[in-house]
Amino acid sequence: MSTFWSAWIIVLTIIFLVAVSWLLFANRKTSVNAENEAKTGHVYDGIEEYDNPLPAWWLNLFLLTLIFTIGYLILYPGLGNFKGLLGWTSEGRYEQEIKAAEEKYQHIFKAYAEVNIEALAKDAKAMKIGQRLFANSCATCHGSDARGNVGYPNLTDNDWLYGGQPEQILVSITHGRSAVMPAWASVLGSEGLGGMTNYVRSLADGEVDKNSDSAKTYTNMCAACHGLDGKGNIALGAPNLTDDIWLYGGSEAEIMQSLANGRNGKMPAQETILSKEKIHILAAYVFSLSME
Ligand code: HEC
Ligand code: HEC
Repeated sequence: MSTFWSAWIIVLTIIFLVAVSWLLFANRKTSVNAENEAKTGHVYDGIEEYDNPLPAWWLNLFLLTLIFTIGYLILYPGLGNFKGLLGWTSEGRYEQEIKAAEEKYQHIFKAYAEVNIEALAKDAKAMKIGQRLFANSCATCHGSDARGNVGYPNLTDNDWLYGGQPEQILVSITHGRSAVMPAWASVLGSEGLGGMTNYVRSLADGEVDKNSDSAKTYTNMCAACHGLDGKGNIALGAPNLTDDIWLYGGSEAEIMQSLANGRNGKMPAQETILSKEKIHILAAYVFSLSME
């Protein structure tokens, strides 16, 4: 706020307060004028109005609000750029509360960080915290039940793109993951695309024709990432194509879409967003979801 507008607000506020006080006291009557029954002179339909003082409780209430206003404007921000004697700000209050909360919970997170992920996954109290952290940081993509959605893996099904061991889950969350599935439309042509779609479906159905053209193309072009048997590769995040669990859908149209345009799923790294201790609890929480 520029100095002019700040001064403008201060001057207007003060003038207003003075005017209100004046209005109140200049027109105040102190005693009931019973003898001569003074009237205000207002007449309506033959009804007249006595000129009596305001009730004391009403007047005092008004006085109190005036005193409160002046005290408030001296202590808290309200008059233009004047920050108030207490130096209170909403940001300061927010930071104070966050700091207090962190100090309060720090020792809990520290203690959990000492426990290994497998053991932590069995700690009901820690998993309650994990569930809350998951709802805040992960549910937008993986769903509040962690069952995922198209393009966002289900974290409860024990089928893993990058491995389901505690350490692997920890790496997925900490550093994020970037999948590269190339686009094959121009390489395979439309006929090859149709054949390969059928071949991928047959991998999932378990009725593979090993001598088809598509089988040979698969060995040449796909096996490097998805494996000769189609069971995938967790080092690359290449999905298992034989288990009928699909990240992008298993219908003919959806598989063809995956092949034609490629897929590039991205799991954002959390190390810059969340503390190490929180990621540790989250890894245990994710691990617990597929633990039977
Ligand atoms: C460079 C490694 C690489 C090659 C080569 C490759 N893929 Fe993939 N493929 C991936 C990765 C990684 C994903 C996962 C993409 C993601 O998570 O976004 C994937 C995803 C897929 C999917 C989607 C699976 C699902 O669950 O929805 C299909 C289908 C697929 N690949 C088939 C093929 C076929 C057929 C070929 C050969 C023509 C092939 N891929 C070649 C790495 C590869
Ligand atoms: C912006 C969306 C997004 C957010 C937020 C997100 N994820 Fe992910 N996550 C993904 C995607 C997409 C993948 C799959 C990457 C791929 O296709 O290769 C993934 C993969 C993973 C994997 C690997 C799964 C596997 O099968 O190996 C884990 C574990 C995971 N996420 C946990 C989490 C946790 C815990 C959080 C919260 C801290 C989180 N994610 C937040 C999008 C997200």
